[in-house]
Amino acid sequence: MPNHCARRTCCAIGLLINALAVQPARPSPAVIGHPELWPAGSHRPARADQDAFVAKLLADMSLEDKVGQMIQADIASITPADLNVYKLGSILAGGNAAPADNVRSTPQAWLQLTNEFHRVALEAAAPGHPAIPILFGIDAVHGHGKLRGATIFPHNVGLGAAHDPVLIERIGAATAQEVTATGIDWTFAPTVAVVRDVRWGRSYESYSESPELVTQYAGAMVSGLQGKIDTPQFMAPGHTLSSVKHFLGDGGTVDGRDQGNTIVTEAELAALHGAPYVAAIRAGAMIVMASYNSWNGVKMHADHYLLTDILKGRMAFDGFVVGDWDAQEQIPGCTKGDCAAAILAGVDMLMAPDSWKQLYQATLDEVRSGAIPEERIDDAVRRILRVKVIAGLFDRAAPSRPDAGDFDQIGSQEHRAIAREAVRKSLVLLKNAGDVLPLNPTSTVLVAGEAADDIGMQSGGWTLDWQGDHNSNADFPGATSIYGGIRAAVTAAGGKVSLSRDGRYDKKPDVAIVVFGEHPYAEFQGDRETLEFSERGQHALRILRRLHREGVATVSVFLSGRPLWVNPQINASDAFVAAWLPGSEGEGIADVLFRTAAGTVPYDFTGRLSFSWPRTAMPVLLAASPELSGALWPLGAGLDYRTHSDLGLLSEDPQIPAKWHPPAGSLFHAGHVIAPWNIFVADSGDQVHLTTDRQESPHKAVAVSVDAAGAEAVWSGLRSGILLISGRADDLGAEADRGSALELRYRVDRKPEQSVQLRIACTKPLCGTATGASLDLTAIFESAPLGVWSNLQVPLSCWTTAGADLKEVEVPFAVATAGRFGLTIADVRLAPMHEAAAAHCP
Ligand code: BGC
Ligand code: BGC
Repeated sequence: MPNHCARRTCCAIGLLINALAVQPARPSPAVIGHPELWPAGSHRPARADQDAFVAKLLADMSLEDKVGQMIQADIASITPADLNVYKLGSILAGGNAAPADNVRSTPQAWLQLTNEFHRVALEAAAPGHPAIPILFGIDAVHGHGKLRGATIFPHNVGLGAAHDPVLIERIGAATAQEVTATGIDWTFAPTVAVVRDVRWGRSYESYSESPELVTQYAGAMVSGLQGKIDTPQFMAPGHTLSSVKHFLGDGGTVDGRDQGNTIVTEAELAALHGAPYVAAIRAGAMIVMASYNSWNGVKMHADHYLLTDILKGRMAFDGFVVGDWDAQEQIPGCTKGDCAAAILAGVDMLMAPDSWKQLYQATLDEVRSGAIPEERIDDAVRRILRVKVIAGLFDRAAPSRPDAGDFDQIGSQEHRAIAREAVRKSLVLLKNAGDVLPLNPTSTVLVAGEAADDIGMQSGGWTLDWQGDHNSNADFPGATSIYGGIRAAVTAAGGKVSLSRDGRYDKKPDVAIVVFGEHPYAEFQGDRETLEFSERGQHALRILRRLHREGVATVSVFLSGRPLWVNPQINASDAFVAAWLPGSEGEGIADVLFRTAAGTVPYDFTGRLSFSWPRTAMPVLLAASPELSGALWPLGAGLDYRTHSDLGLLSEDPQIPAKWHPPAGSLFHAGHVIAPWNIFVADSGDQVHLTTDRQESPHKAVAVSVDAAGAEAVWSGLRSGILLISGRADDLGAEADRGSALELRYRVDRKPEQSVQLRIACTKPLCGTATGASLDLTAIFESAPLGVWSNLQVPLSCWTTAGADLKEVEVPFAVATAGRFGLTIADVRLAPMHEAAAAHCP
């Protein structure tokens, strides 16, 4: 298992810098928190006895223990023994973290691990060090997805299509039972992003582009997870704390850039993105997660106005704000191990997965020096302790809690039935030419497509591991693939069914169901420049067209985390069903596609789009009128067995404007890094994602600014610094064999003082050396005229010659030097070699 640093280096993507955007003015302090914009939430007040308990505890605590409460570490980087020394407030199991580093661990192993942390937290109480239970958190975002054998519910995009808040509450309750069975107190859900541009790779985590629907769901999910407020169920055993995320404006970033900048007025911010939080707080949400994104250029983790004045002030939120994974490192002047600014802005608990120890020390120093007032610390700790009290953590002393160890809950028939119902309700029928659906289960059915029998593809990201892209059917005991569900329905009715990934058959079937779609991703890897569905090799399209030619009726079942431009696939299908990311209960699909053996319709389509479906490969303009929006199908669209619609042939021109059509192989072009690639700056082993128009490496070795002209990097000479582009794992070996080169359009702004390396880095196996293979470009940059644009092509084979294995390159471009140096890059791409430069290695 790669360590977190390596994993993040590898998996970065898609951000962009909106240097040109006009930034609306921020409100002046005099008009803080317009009541008409920001309605007050109300909150479950702690009872007087609870407040007194917290006050007494706080008075007993040393400064060290208070600061400890404000820090959350990841199980990959902290042991229970560490907790004996550092009394932290919380532990999380991050996307790739698991007991003994095994993401396929049993429920018993999970419980043993959480119990160990819980037990140690309560040990060694002494004067100044009262025993305080920890909060253990996990991303149970579509069921207890990181647990093998758990019920995997559809991702939020599918739940949105169900338009059913009561169902959402039941899913929350079922999820909580599975989570608490493993001794876990807290899930990082629900995501209440209102996504406005589905090129964002996290759109699947959003219920809808409609703030109204997300607002209805936000309260329902919080009630399901925590139990209904003001009832005895609230935080009773079998319930888990929720956290509403990501505050604020995560779904509104320009061009759908992950962790980017949301440029809207305050009124738009409140109306589009703020409303779900009010509903969640009213339903009893006690934890809000701050977002990676900026609002009008200010990073949320540094935004005192929104975190403190609005959320804690106007919205009357008296729970605590947790930071996102190392998000503090993106704040100017901060590193992941030192960030007073986030605490001053209002973050109460910092998610510091592997930098918790430095952060603890630095924060202590800052309180002692007066940089952080002690009242701010007391406020944060009071909030955290209050949540712990209300959640009942002090009463149900771990490890012997009543709900922990109730393993019958995990993947129970009852929960799977809810998930299967959710799958049925999430399906949206978009085309049904000639009423090909519902299907006759006594006929001969061919099931084809690469996703037909692939529970991993059904489940998407945040499944067993972070990106969810390493799973096979064996990883899902008790689950059913879509093919499995179809087979059961057809065989029971006496029909014939066969599975053939490539759609070949011996005997002509009556109908073919072709299941295809997006491969799993959680963060970064799903970011896109356009909405064109680009499957490897257009596999499904070829199957559909062939079957069509052969006169076989085709039903497409499309798995995706968002609407995508699939006009060619729709044209080649008789029926087209958007099935989103349905999760572990694939039978839900056959439930709706087939009649019963007796010919009745057991379930009609009730799902309706919760996102507009694009007519071209560019995102729908949500602010425009329906005619101008560019939607093929608007919000709320969807057919059923009583409606008929004649969909003519759709245009197969994706209509992508030049700006979004960079030259093939581009990593950086026209002032932005091409999704799903991302820019990072790094030094001394730490790297930071560039998500604003400027980012400095943690120890100031290199700073990069991006504007329309390119990415301008300035090395300070303080220590070795790296500018890198990283993203998905690509096979550059094949490119090298085809004779491709890394092509660079660059400008030297300051001559290098020391040697400059151009690196390519891989994971398994590492390229040549543990740090990848490097080529020395010092002479080239030394001789380049200052301030003049030049082109350079370096054959990929040069890195092979230098000893690299280019099979899984995650960093195809990195420039490193320790001395002072200035370089601007305008284009970076993998391109065919020009004759002249052929075979010339630096
Ligand atoms: C994500 C959060 C998640 C956290 C912990 C972050 O990268 O943005 O949604 O809860 O990691 O895994
Ligand atoms: C972690 C995730 C986290 C992500 C953030 C991953 O390594 O496993 O939990 O959300 O990094 O970048």
